[in-house]
Amino acid sequence: MIKPLRGMKDLTFEESQRFTYIIETAAVIAKRYGYHYIETPILEETVLFKRSVGDSSDIVSKEMYQFQDKGKNDVCMRPEGTAGVVRAFVSAKLDRQPVKQKFYYYGPMFRYERPQKGRLREFHQFGCESFGEGSVYEDFTVITMISQIFKALGIGFDLIINSLGCPSCMPPYRENLVRFLTEIRSDLCEDCNRRIGSNPIRVLDCKNETCQSLLSGSPKLIENLCNDCNSDFTILTKLLDNAGIAYKIDTHLVRGLDYYTKSAFEFVSDAIGSQSAIAGGGRYDKLVEYLDGKPTPAVGFAIGIERIMELVQMPEISREGYYMGAMVPEALEILFTLAAQKRLETKVTVEYIQKGFKSHMKGADKAHARYALLIGEDELENGTVWIKDLETKDERTLLLSNV
Ligand code: HAM
Repeated sequence: MIKPLRGMKDLTFEESQRFTYIIETAAVIAKRYGYHYIETPILEETVLFKRSVGDSSDIVSKEMYQFQDKGKNDVCMRPEGTAGVVRAFVSAKLDRQPVKQKFYYYGPMFRYERPQKGRLREFHQFGCESFGEGSVYEDFTVITMISQIFKALGIGFDLIINSLGCPSCMPPYRENLVRFLTEIRSDLCEDCNRRIGSNPIRVLDCKNETCQSLLSGSPKLIENLCNDCNSDFTILTKLLDNAGIAYKIDTHLVRGLDYYTKSAFEFVSDAIGSQSAIAGGGRYDKLVEYLDGKPTPAVGFAIGIERIMELVQMPEISREGYYMGAMVPEALEILFTLAAQKRLETKVTVEYIQKGFKSHMKGADKAHARYALLIGEDELENGTVWIKDLETKDERTLLLSNV
């Protein structure tokens, strides 16, 4: 038997229902905030992710599904959605239009990580990207929207926020941090030592306990922000306070992607084990420019669908449409005609096998039908059908022409 690859999963009946429910719920809310659906290719030139997510990030340096296609192009399966959406935004010259533009998307992402619960090699994200709005009000609005999505899905969360500064306050902070890290480098792990040269900010994010305790004394960007970033961060926290959205500030929240500026955030849940991040995002005001577009501020997020799949509180499946069954073989043709009519307006299940009454009623129940519609000998003779409303329990016999 051929199985899916390690870290990849089929979505069969129960899970696919959860998946669809999550996407539909999130999309309805995203549309209320002015987002439009966008679809971008799964396969992109590798350089796109090197320039956006960052050459030295784990995602690009260790986790990409990268290969040469038959035309010898260096391509890779997208590890995340933002880079592709920004590329599409620039390709379509939307960066030259003065209006603000907002896109939502969902689909598979690929990261060659070590699989474990909540960490897959093929996983799905629902994401939103808002272009052209530089105000921190938009960061607040995006966070509000995610909270609303999680509330609608019945999922509890903790919100963690930080500011990653801008090209004016980040470089001096980075220098300061490198000085601090160099002093303690012999006590830091191998990964941290490698990152001091390539991506010192990521050192703050190290999961090693010894490193974490040494890093507690590191300089904090939040205490070294420029006036502009500081004021935005203060406004963001005030707006969240006013809206009653609880948050924690984590000065070590740096995110695993290099394109962030200013606000960065993660939604976490302690109900799903060690892979606790259920959504992540932030502002990325420089990325459109890095990908050859006109400078355009932007902010966005992505939710990890598999991570929330088990947490979602699904609504009860309501009874819908018809179950049609024949108790005499000749009735089946009549049912096909009725089913074709009714399928113009609702869901219809036709049982092809002639069965007794009880058996059909069980079938109607299993199909979650609102109405059981049966034809037996009497009905066939009289040109009628027997219908029962399985919710109100009301039953009646109707002329075929009145169904
Ligand atoms: P990210 O934090 O890398 O951000 O991923 C977003 C979410 O995807 C995570 O919070 C997690 O729930 C889920 N996720 C990530 N890796 C895996 C995995 N291996 N298996 C299962 N779920 C996973 C981004 O991807 C950014 N593009 C978000 C963004 C949009 N920032 C701005 N706009």
